[in-house]
Formats: sequence, structure tokens, C-alpha cells
Amino acid sequence: AAAAFPLRNLFSGPGNAAAAGAPAASVPFSQPMPIPPVLRPARSTLDTDFYELRMRYADVEIVPGVRSRVRTYGGVLPGPTVRAHRGRKVVVRQHNDLDLDAAVHLHGGHVAPEHDGHPMDVIAPGANREYHYDNDQRAASLWYHDHAHHSESENVYNGLHGSYLISDPLEAALGLPGGQYDVPLQIRDARVEADGKLTYTRAEQRPHMLVNGKERPYFRVEARRYRLRLFNVSIDRPMLLRLSDGAEFTQIATDGGLLAEPVRLSEILMSAGERAEVVIDFGRYRAGSSVALRNAMALPGENQDFLRFDVVPAAGRDTSAVPPKLAELEPLPPATAERSFVLDMNKEQGTFLINGLLYDPHRVDVRTELGATEVWSVTNPNGHGEHPNFLGTHNFHTHLTHFRVLDRNGAPPAPYEQGWKDTVEIGPGETVRIAMSWGPHPGRYVYHCHRLPHSANAQMGTIEIVG
Ligand code: C2O
Ligand code: CU
Repeated sequence: AAAAFPLRNLFSGPGNAAAAGAPAASVPFSQPMPIPPVLRPARSTLDTDFYELRMRYADVEIVPGVRSRVRTYGGVLPGPTVRAHRGRKVVVRQHNDLDLDAAVHLHGGHVAPEHDGHPMDVIAPGANREYHYDNDQRAASLWYHDHAHHSESENVYNGLHGSYLISDPLEAALGLPGGQYDVPLQIRDARVEADGKLTYTRAEQRPHMLVNGKERPYFRVEARRYRLRLFNVSIDRPMLLRLSDGAEFTQIATDGGLLAEPVRLSEILMSAGERAEVVIDFGRYRAGSSVALRNAMALPGENQDFLRFDVVPAAGRDTSAVPPKLAELEPLPPATAERSFVLDMNKEQGTFLINGLLYDPHRVDVRTELGATEVWSVTNPNGHGEHPNFLGTHNFHTHLTHFRVLDRNGAPPAPYEQGWKDTVEIGPGETVRIAMSWGPHPGRYVYHCHRLPHSANAQMGTIEIVG
């Protein structure tokens, strides 16, 4: 199959020379973790909130003492948080003040095709467009990020990512920690050079870990429960998240919203693009003590700890709760089709394939009917020689709809992936079966590996849902 577009070397985009010299020194836990600002509507009507966002370059301090030029939504890294409510529409007008094409995808959104940020449906520099989001879906932690074909990986790496949180009345009635105790954590890696330049390069050369745009920050928490919304917004790095004291925490949600019941865990594996919501009770810690969040899959020589919670006395009584029953997970109807997808790579060409094919935006790979329930079996036949800690992993992301993980190599999914998902890790040699119903919109959508250097190099396909 011929590539429809010239493919890029994996990490050689414009303005991104190979890493040279030493990166900026990490000074762990020397700067506070910011909480991204919540975007204010420019105006609101009875059923819709209208927002304006400008994509533009900004100089930000990721590592203390140096300025880094990043691509942003609204001048901040990460972009501002959009707070949406089920049944209430959101319209975001995105102005492209960058000098490159951009497409804004709402990851996890059940969005009409013309508002999905399709890779070919870009906003040219200087132009703007409206994206319409119905928010006709369960409460969930979504995120928005760039999806311009071939450039999405560099664009996200350079800063085009932000949180989009949908709430609903069922969730609000649970009494989970809210307000200032409900915090999104956009977690990613990066390489910041000594002069501040952000270099787009492979994971082995990206020693910095950012939470909400700051390198290894600290977060002052009260001795009480917090709801932490974890986003792995790295372009390709899987993370195995643990607390530094090994303590258990409670997972309450996956990509697509609340789990049926809370799950007690001591670690969560998150591949690039996945979300998990956890409740951590810092009331178990003495005021004045600290505990860190760590990536137990960090590369050799890297500091595993990337966020330090510094516990201070609670300001008041903690009235939040994690009820034993969180949500109803509607069962899927029986599947009417089964399909297989093989994620592979062409080592010589540095391209990535699905079922032997490179992405071609003019080709439809799967055709189905609106509302059809299907089982997709996704296989990663091999490893592909990166560092053993994430040797040969791919993952799989569907646009438009959420899926349930049926099994992984025939065994039930791990507890942290039993709810509604839109992205799932597919490790070397694994076959993961997922089930989904295709809707609520007809049209053409992509599915792809969410290791973005892979999708940028053609590991992507098209499904057409016929209405
Ligand atoms: Cu988060 Cu098609 O992507
Ligand atoms: Cu991949």
C-alpha cells in the first residue's frame, strides 16, 4: 500500500532537531502544581455555553528558571479545563493563531463527524471554526487535543492538550469529593533542554515528567479525601502509577465515566490517552508528611516520583463519600459482527500498520450500521524493540463511542479497565477483545493506536457508520 501522504521520520518534525547536549536539570518538588483555569463561557443561552479559545504560542516555565516555547490553547499549558454538563450543549470557537494546521478532537466525546476534529478537517493558520458538542453522554473525564494528520503527535507534545469534564446529576448525587477537592492531573513526559527548548524526541530522551505543565511539582493537599482525575497525555509513554508508600487508593472511573462499584487498587497501568479517576484519602497521613505519586515503569535512571503530595491539616470536616454503588453500566446488546485488527509496524520504513495497511483517508476500512453492536479483536503480534519497559506496546482508541473490554488473551480485564473505555493498552503478544455499539451519529470516523508517533505514521483506519 502506498502512503497517501509523505510520511515523516518518527521524531524529525519541523523545529525538532535531535536532542543534543544535556537536558535542563530537574529540581523535583520545587514548584507548586498548578490547577488549570476553568474556561469561562463568552456567552450562554438557555441550553448552550459558547466558548472562545485561541491556539497560540506561549513561553512558559516548565522547569524552574527556564522559559519554554509551547503551543497552547488559550496561552496556558495544559489548556484551560472545560466544565460541561450532560444535556447542556457546548460550542467552542477555536481560533488558529499558530502557523500550522490544527484540528481539535474531543477525545471520548460522542460527537457528530463534522465536529470530531477529523485528521484531514483542519483549521488553517489564521482561520477559526466552531466545534459543537452535545454532551449527550454519561459524566466522564474527556480531553481535547490536536489531531491534524501527521502533526498530531508533535502538536500534542508541544502543548495542545486540555481537560474537558462532563458532569451529570447521578454523579453529582453521589457526594464524591467536589469543588477544590476534584482535580484534573494532566500527566506527561517531555524533554526540556538547558536553554528551555522543548525537543520532540523519543521517550528514552524525555526525562522530564510534567503534571499540569510543571516538572515534578508538589501539591499541598488537606488531610481529607480528594478526587483526582488522572490523564495520561503523553504522546506514547505507558505509566504504571503507584503511591510511593505502596498504599491502596480507590478507583471510581475509567475513560467513559464511573465504574459500577469502586475498586481498591495499589497500581494502575495507563497507556497514552487513557484516563482513570481515583479517590485518595489523605486523612490517613499526618499533617506535615508527604507521599509521592510515582511511575513504576520509569526508565532506568529516571526518578520514578513525579508528584509529591504535601499533607496539611484539613480546613473543615470531610463530608465527601465514596458510595459502594456508583453507576449502572448498561449491558451491550448481542454483537452482530466480529472483526479482527492486527497492529503492526514496518521497521525499515518506520511506518505503523493496521491489518497490513497504512492509513489512507480516502479508504473506508470498516462499514457498519448505526446502532450495530460489534466485537473487535485487536492483536499486537510482536514487540518492536524499544526499551523493555514498554517494548512493543501499542494501544487502541475508537472515536465516537465507548467500548467494554471483554478479555485480554482470554482472561478477564484488569479491575482498572472494567468500565466504559475508549482507549486500551495492547501489549506485545496480546489480543484484546472489545465490544461497542456504533452511534449515536452516522458518518466517517477514525480509530487508531494512541501512541501518537504511531498514528502520525499511519496506524489509523476509517469506520463508516451508515445511518
Ligand atoms: Cu485522543 Cu483520535 O484521539
Ligand atoms: Cu502503535
